[in-house]
Amino acid sequence: MTKILAIETSCDETACAVVEDGCSILSNIVSSQINVHSLYGGVVPEVASRIHVENISAVVQEALKQAKVSMDDIDAVAFTEGPGLIGSLHVGVQAAKTVAWAFGKPLIPLHHITGHIYANRYVSKLKFPLMALVVSGGHTELVWMANDWDFKVIGTTRDDAIGEAYDKVARVLDLGYPGGPAIDKLAKQGHPHYTLPTPKTSSPYDFSFSGLKTAVLQLAAREKKNGREVSPEDLAYCFQETALQSMVSKTIAAVENHHPAMVVLAGGVAANSRLRELMSEKMNAFQDIDLIIPPLKCCTDNAAMIGAAGYIAYQHHQFGDLSVSADPGLTMPGEE
Ligand code: KG4
Ligand code: ZN
Repeated sequence: MTKILAIETSCDETACAVVEDGCSILSNIVSSQINVHSLYGGVVPEVASRIHVENISAVVQEALKQAKVSMDDIDAVAFTEGPGLIGSLHVGVQAAKTVAWAFGKPLIPLHHITGHIYANRYVSKLKFPLMALVVSGGHTELVWMANDWDFKVIGTTRDDAIGEAYDKVARVLDLGYPGGPAIDKLAKQGHPHYTLPTPKTSSPYDFSFSGLKTAVLQLAAREKKNGREVSPEDLAYCFQETALQSMVSKTIAAVENHHPAMVVLAGGVAANSRLRELMSEKMNAFQDIDLIIPPLKCCTDNAAMIGAAGYIAYQHHQFGDLSVSADPGLTMPGEE
């Protein structure tokens, strides 16, 4: 049995987990800063790194305690090297390096998105070739994996990430931060009352959400100027349908053309109930392709997902050394 201590601090969650063989969670501590950042309507990077510094030691100790293990039982220390907020990442990287150095353990630096994808190992054994739709606050990507630990980004966003668009639209509707869950809930009571432009890109698997976001902002401003009340439910519904229908149809086109053995959803926006519903509906047409939709707690940032990816990286001998530092613009393994 391989036990990995995993640390994740790329944004506003201070997280540490102990994971066995990348598929069994012994502990998974997530200390969220949402209450603080929601006061400002979004993540304040300086504040995030300061809170990480204050919490990281206690979070790591708690993860070991809840897993009922000591550092002697741990085989390697995995951590998020990037991408993310530089100050936030830095705290996790320093913590991982300190622990690894003090206890003589190998270090496994990871790309945050590999964690989101491998979180699906807590649901099922992965089958390759695999297509992942990665949807988070910082990423919107179609990742093709011909084999285990083999990543090729075949589609990406040309501008905003989908989670970012959700958060910005939520701000217009005064729904607080993070906006995704609030829009998800509100849209359930909405109707197709407004017409919004379908996102267009020249490449078939690329995404774009900034035009749609701007159209929502302009529509809200226009209605207000004309003395009409905007219906938050209808606007949430129309934004969500336009964004998701476009994204899901591109994903299905990629599935049709590449024919993977498995499709997985990954990232915070994978918690969205309408996206889960749409993907399940559309994938019904592909009886020979498995669809994995991770449970909600595996979608948003946590360290168990870093432990899952860390185990595979460990098997592939992807170790780092003490010279590694936080890389806010890190690209996927194998990418330019
Ligand atoms: O993966 P994640 O926790 O952090 C990043 O790596 O970015 O994703 C956070 C994003 C936020 O933009 C949040 O609004 C969005 O995920 N999100 C959702 C839902 N739950 C979280 N978006 C839509 N519907 C949801 N239910
Ligand atoms: Zn994430």
